[in-house]
Amino acid sequence: MPIAVLISGTGSNLQALIQGQQQGLPIDIQVVISNRPKAQGLQHAALAGIPTYTIDHRQYSDRASFETIVTNTLHQYDHQLIVLAGFMRKLTADFVHQFYGKMINLHPALLPKYPGLNTFERALQAGDHEHGSTVHYVSPEVDAGPIISQARLPIQPTDTINTLRQKNTTLEHRLLPHTVRLIAEGRITFNDPNVLLDGKNLPSEGTDLTEII
Ligand code: GRF
Repeated sequence: MPIAVLISGTGSNLQALIQGQQQGLPIDIQVVISNRPKAQGLQHAALAGIPTYTIDHRQYSDRASFETIVTNTLHQYDHQLIVLAGFMRKLTADFVHQFYGKMINLHPALLPKYPGLNTFERALQAGDHEHGSTVHYVSPEVDAGPIISQARLPIQPTDTINTLRQKNTTLEHRLLPHTVRLIAEGRITFNDPNVLLDGKNLPSEGTDLTEII
């Protein structure tokens, strides 16, 4: 399955997809786009021989003109899925509608809990006993689209923001490739607003992959 990946930073989840592809994950990463020129993930992509584009949002006067360039770049490739892997720009409803059901996002919390930023801090402050990450279809409202999959981990009393982030990031490096595999293999399908696995509707929290990945 040809895919496009949008990033803004480290790109460790992009790297997990690249490694997955090298090890037989049935995907073909055709293009990586970053809105930040210094995103480390651009180097991972370049090393793997994947075409990269930097489209620096600061050079555009508004979201729409930035997104026009992103759209034009994406249309040069015939991807079937766009993966937002640490892409830190809000997208307009117009952009999202173009790719609705064909664009997924990885979020470091068990949605619908903790959309937005600082999820580790918020989970620790709330005294939660578990945390995790979610993969969901992108809808115009941030971190709110139909959920595909989640993976969980226990929060230990000794956990800090940093230890929780580290553990959660390791979890994401398995969750994202596995979820993309399910989509590439046609096992996950989307019949708005329902997400299906092997033809059966999933609950609103998606499929729990904690024990599988
Ligand atoms: C991940 O934690 C993801 O959940 C969030 O941004 C982070 C990206 O990390 N959306 P990386 O750039 O893939 O290392």
